[in-house]
Amino acid sequence: MKMRAAVLEEFGEPLVVQEVDLTDPKEGEALVRLVACGVCHTDLYTASGVDPSGYSPTVLGHEGAGVVEAVGPGVNELAVGDHVVTLFSPQCRECVHCVDERTNICLAIREQQGKGYLPDGTTRLQRNGEEIRHFMGTSTFAEYTVMPEIALAKVSPEASLDCAALFACGLSTGLGAAINTAKVRQGSTCVVFGAGMVGLGAVAGCRLQGADRIICVDLSEDRLALAKDQGATETRLGGDDIVDWVISETGGFGADYTFEATGNVAVMRQAVESARMGWGLATMAGVAGKGETLDVVPRLLITGRRVAGSSFGGVKGRDGVPKFVDRYLAGEIDVEPFISHRITLDEVNRGFELMEAQDGIRSVIEFN
Ligand SMILES: NC(=O)c1ccc[n+]([C@@H]2O[C@H](COP(=O)([O-])OP(=O)(O)OC[C@H]3O[C@@H](n4cnc5c(N)ncnc54)[C@H](O)[C@@H]3O)[C@@H](O)[C@H]2O)c1
Ligand SMILES: [Zn+2]
Ligand SMILES: [Zn+2]
Repeated sequence: MKMRAAVLEEFGEPLVVQEVDLTDPKEGEALVRLVACGVCHTDLYTASGVDPSGYSPTVLGHEGAGVVEAVGPGVNELAVGDHVVTLFSPQCRECVHCVDERTNICLAIREQQGKGYLPDGTTRLQRNGEEIRHFMGTSTFAEYTVMPEIALAKVSPEASLDCAALFACGLSTGLGAAINTAKVRQGSTCVVFGAGMVGLGAVAGCRLQGADRIICVDLSEDRLALAKDQGATETRLGGDDIVDWVISETGGFGADYTFEATGNVAVMRQAVESARMGWGLATMAGVAGKGETLDVVPRLLITGRRVAGSSFGGVKGRDGVPKFVDRYLAGEIDVEPFISHRITLDEVNRGFELMEAQDGIRSVIEFN
């Protein structure tokens, strides 16, 4: 079939929205009509050419939500009409990681996905017979996508798909960092560094876990105001004095849980140093630049602080995303304020500009 998609042709150049070909789903795959898709830093990171593993031409986009239009042979758990959220982090339910509760990092299709292919090593995307590679296994800056069933989370049809799309990446990452990775205990004190999509999700996650104090740290007053709405009990502008401030605010000890959601390794260090002696857990969600390292004084670890990393919030996508969407429908998570701009596919490059200008939290592409 013919469809419109935003293609990364040349690194550092605007995406080119154009007509491309999409072939039918094969074994274990489904055809999804996208209804909404968020524009995320990872898309821009790849488009800019900074990502060393990037390739072109490819259709970017990974924060998609839509409706199943067709299924290939061997698809068991999805049917035409189902509402789905796309998962760059799949869940096959069979690999050694999927059957273990300690991780959400599925091994089933990692290699092919990383190279831009669907699990059988081919693409469903073409232009004049030339292959176009898939991005993050999702390629959702497009009217349609073909994806493996194991990378689609079936969500409640009650949820608006523009809000559901945010659970495809940053929001679930933040919520999950607090709920799954850190498993924040009721009554705790938490500090969240960064109030973008991921940090705000972590603030909401700490609130849902029943934290007593949730301190959010950012450089933007506007974003800190959003953090208050998500449940932050205190906010503070970031800077060199922040560790001392957190320690003095917590009786000289530091916080039970800290979260890093900026991608800045200096802030990661602050998150570790702000964690409490004895049991403080610092969870890293930010993605640092290639080659950057996190500097930690080992004595901080010997005296009981721990450091964890969290990919997609430790969320096993097909199980966890539908549950988050249900909590949104139950009124526990306020998603609407994260959608700052609604744009069309043709305006995708404007979505990048808004993100670079830190104008709002998320631009969401709406397809019609
Ligand atoms: N682990 C994962 O699976 C995963 C998934 C999605 C995104 N990420 C990463 O999470 C990070 C956050 O993503 P986002 O979409 O929320 O980004 P974002 O850019 O919207 O938010 C980052 C926030 O950090 C703030 N910040 C910058 N420097 C700071 C400082 N010194 N002190 C305090 N705050 C500071 C910025 O003002 C901004 O509000 C990125 O690194 C992103 O790549 C990770
Ligand atoms: Zn993303
Ligand atoms: Zn798996």
